[in-house]
Amino acid sequence: MHGDRVLVQCMVAALLLVAVVEGTNGPIICNIALNKLGQCRSAVTGKYPPPPTNECCSLIKHANLTCLCEFKDALPALKIQPSRAFALPKKCKSNQRVPPQCKP
Ligand SMILES: *[C@@H]1O[C@H](CO)[C@@H](O)[C@H](O)[C@H]1NC(C)=O
Repeated sequence: MHGDRVLVQCMVAALLLVAVVEGTNGPIICNIALNKLGQCRSAVTGKYPPPPTNECCSLIKHANLTCLCEFKDALPALKIQPSRAFALPKKCKSNQRVPPQCKP
């Protein structure tokens, strides 16, 4: 009986570990799940981007902007315009602090 319970706990722990490592959300950078970035896609591309969606804003509000700022030069590779990306916190009415070197 006792042994079974330990086994089950072990299996649950193993599953959780896999879930964290593999992540149902895929890779995560700066607290942003990359596969959710699509929700911000339209707000950070193009010449006249529409306002960010609520989904995008909730993503942004959880993002680590200090960390994201370090990826500034890599963002264009993800088809993200840094100036638009770092304008999002304000557009989302978030009071997050954008690092000075990344201020739009
Ligand atoms: C955000 O990222 C920076 C740089 O990667 C790190 O030093 C800092 O601890 C992070 N802050 C939070 C709240 O995770």
